[in-house]
Amino acid sequence: MTQRRFIMLFSALMLLAGLLASCGTTTPSGSGGATAPTAGGTAAGGGLPKLTKAPKKVGFAQTESNNPWRLAQTASMKAEAEKRGYELVYTDAAGSAAKQVADVDSMIAQKVDAIFLAPREEKPLAQAVLKAKAAGIPVILLDRNVDQTIAKPGEDFVTFIGSDFIEEGKRAAEWLIKATNGTAKIIELEGTTGSSPANDRKKGFDDRIKSEAGMQILASQTGDFARDKGRQVMETLLQAHPDVTAVYAHNDEMAIGAIAALEAAGKVPGKDVIVVSIDGEKDALQAIIDGKLGASVECNPRFGPSAFDTLEKYAKGEQIATKIINPDNFYDASNAKDSIAGSY
Ligand code: AHR
Repeated sequence: MTQRRFIMLFSALMLLAGLLASCGTTTPSGSGGATAPTAGGTAAGGGLPKLTKAPKKVGFAQTESNNPWRLAQTASMKAEAEKRGYELVYTDAAGSAAKQVADVDSMIAQKVDAIFLAPREEKPLAQAVLKAKAAGIPVILLDRNVDQTIAKPGEDFVTFIGSDFIEEGKRAAEWLIKATNGTAKIIELEGTTGSSPANDRKKGFDDRIKSEAGMQILASQTGDFARDKGRQVMETLLQAHPDVTAVYAHNDEMAIGAIAALEAAGKVPGKDVIVVSIDGEKDALQAIIDGKLGASVECNPRFGPSAFDTLEKYAKGEQIATKIINPDNFYDASNAKDSIAGSY
């Protein structure tokens, strides 16, 4: 082979190698090529989307704003975003899981760097988590969980930050067993059907009373975590079960609704019927002081500091636990007066 021929062949081979290499860099990364990096995120090899720069524009998809707990949670998130200089894209799903899925879609379209999601229901919102992941946007779940057979922490979303709802149900049961000497005919007002607090608060309570022969649940029905719905459901259940001696409500709002229904029916809450609930809101603490509500297990709504701390740690590449549990207080006649000033 002449020197000239050798140089031509070598050049042609180099050109071919260059073309093949550039084809390789345009192949989408991640599973199934479904990953589209956002401003600050890349989805790495089917795992969690990574943040490649400090997040600045973040979404907070709230489930509804129909009670003091939700308002306190939103206020805490907005205050913390402002304090740290974030642009917060805030949406309120107004009690609709379908709207909340659409809210997450819109945040993806707006290319937020990360999403804080308080999922209304476990199953439909698990799909929204997967969509955000496919778009390369990390999700942090706040206060409620998604169905983990569909979306997993540490794989599909960064982490869950919130209370231990099973433990809350257990603590409510524990208090009621003591307050009634282990004998009660109970009406249970459940939270939103399909939500993790409703599922877990029921489980925690049921598991604890199982071994107590005198603790009997007469009826169990959803009041959708809302005061007036709680009142209406209690009114109906009271007609079918006038022998009720205790109410377990999955949140304070429904407990306050139930107290109104008991009073309207001529019963004395706190004497004829012992009421216990969860959240620790100001109206509930007042009802404890007034002797109408027996106790409330706190479910802390002030997520702002821990939510943004977690996001910033994640952005720096630190290891994040797949579950971060908020410590919860407990309110009864012994401390309600001293605690009411700091409540929401
Ligand atoms: O997910 C937490 C629950 O949701 C709170 O107990 C309730 O008040 C809220 O709507």
